[in-house]
Amino acid sequence: MARIQHVQARQVLDSRGNPTVEVDVLLQDGAVGRATVPSGASTGKKEAVEMRDHDPAEYLGRGVTQAVSSVEQIIAPEVTGIDALDQSALDGKLIALDGTPEKKRLGGNAVVGVSLAAAKAAAASACLPFYRYLGGLGARELPVPMVNILSGGMHGGGNMDFQDFLAVPLRAPSFSAAIADLASIFTAMKQVLQSRGVYRAGVADEGGYAPELESNEAGFELMVEAIERAGLKAGKEAAIAVDVAASQFANRRGYHLAVEDVSLTSLEFIERLEKWVSRYPIVSVEDGLGEEDWVGWKDLTARLSVRCQLIGDDIFVTRADRLQRGIREGVANAVLVKTNQVGTLTETLAVLALARRHGYHAVISARSGETEDDSIADLAVATGAGQIKIGALTRSERLVKYNRLLRIEQQLGDRAQYRGAEVFEGFTA
Ligand code: PGA
Ligand code: ZN
Repeated sequence: MARIQHVQARQVLDSRGNPTVEVDVLLQDGAVGRATVPSGASTGKKEAVEMRDHDPAEYLGRGVTQAVSSVEQIIAPEVTGIDALDQSALDGKLIALDGTPEKKRLGGNAVVGVSLAAAKAAAASACLPFYRYLGGLGARELPVPMVNILSGGMHGGGNMDFQDFLAVPLRAPSFSAAIADLASIFTAMKQVLQSRGVYRAGVADEGGYAPELESNEAGFELMVEAIERAGLKAGKEAAIAVDVAASQFANRRGYHLAVEDVSLTSLEFIERLEKWVSRYPIVSVEDGLGEEDWVGWKDLTARLSVRCQLIGDDIFVTRADRLQRGIREGVANAVLVKTNQVGTLTETLAVLALARRHGYHAVISARSGETEDDSIADLAVATGAGQIKIGALTRSERLVKYNRLLRIEQQLGDRAQYRGAEVFEGFTA
C-alpha cells in the first residue's frame, strides 16, 4: 500500500511564460511525485478544459489559481488515503468527482496534474524508474522521434499556414543515432535558410525555425534540401512528417490558406495533400483536415492510408469515444496521444490499448506550451508506442524529454529496442 497523505498544488510558469498548474503528491511512506502541466495553443474543441481565472488583473487573465484550488480544496480531501498504486481507482475517482467528459468542473489542468503526480509518487514508492513502473519488464522500446524543424501556424506567428514540418529518422539503428541525424538536419536547415536569405533569429514555440515562406509547399522543398545538406538521402535515410493542424484554417466552406491567399474545398485540399505526398518523401501527415470534417477525413484516409501515416490529433483529442468513431468510420490510421487532452493517465492508456487493438499507430506528444516535466519520455517507453513528438532539438522544456530518453536508452543497455524505419513499413509513399 502506498496511500496518499497529502496533495499540494501551486501556480508556476510554462515555456510561453504562462501560468500553469504544478502538483506534488506525498504518500504515507514518504515517496513524492510531481507533475507540471503543459498547455496547447492549437487546441482541439473537444479537449479537456484548461481552467483559467480570466481575471485581467493577474497574468492578463491567464492565471490558474482556480485550478490550483480545485486540486487543494476539492480533489485533495477526496483522494487522501487512496492507494497510489491503484491508478485506475484514483483516476476513476477523479473522473467521477468531475462528472463531465471534458473535465469542466475541476479543470483538465487540475485533474491531469493529480493523476500524473500520483503515478510518479507510486513509482518512487516502488523504487522503480517511471517507465518501468508503468510498463513493467517489457518496457524497453525507445520511440522513433519526429522532430520539428520548421514551425508555422499558431506556433510561428502566422508566417505560414502549416504548423510543423518535421524530420523523421530512417537509417538510424538506435534512438541516440536518430538524435544525431536529426541534430544535423536541424543545423543544416539554418544554413539552408541563411543561403536563401530567409533565416531570422529566434525560435518558435516548439523550438523550430519560423521563416516567412512564399508558400506552404516551400516548406517541403526546404526540408528535402536540409536533409540532403546534412548528408542524408531524403526518403531513404530521413523523411518528412507534417502537422498541417488544418483545424486552425478550416471554415464552413473548406480551407483558407492565408500565405497563398487561396480558398479550397475539402476535396481540393485533399488533392493537394495527395500531390505533395507523391512529390515529396512524406511518411506522416497529422491533422491533414479539420476536426469537424469527418466526411473529408474518410476520403483522405481512403486515398492515402496505404501510402503514409495519417495522424488524428484535434479530431480524436486522445479520447477513446472519438477514436472509436474514427475506427468505425475509417478515419486516420494513427492517433496522437497527449494526456492533458483527456485528463487522466488511465484514459490515456485506454486510448493506446484501443489503437493497438485496431492496428492504429500511436505517437506520444508534447504540447506547444511545455514544462520541465519529462514524464512523456517514460510514457512512450512504458507503452512501446513506437513514436514520440516533442518539438525541435532546442529549448530545455523539449531537451529535458529527449535527454531523458537518451538516459533511458543507456540504462536499458543491450535490452533497449528501437524499430526505426520499420515503424513506417508497409506504407508505399
Ligand atoms: P498544441 O500543438 O500543443 O499547440 O496543440 C501540438 C500539436 O498540434 O500537435
Ligand atoms: Zn497536432
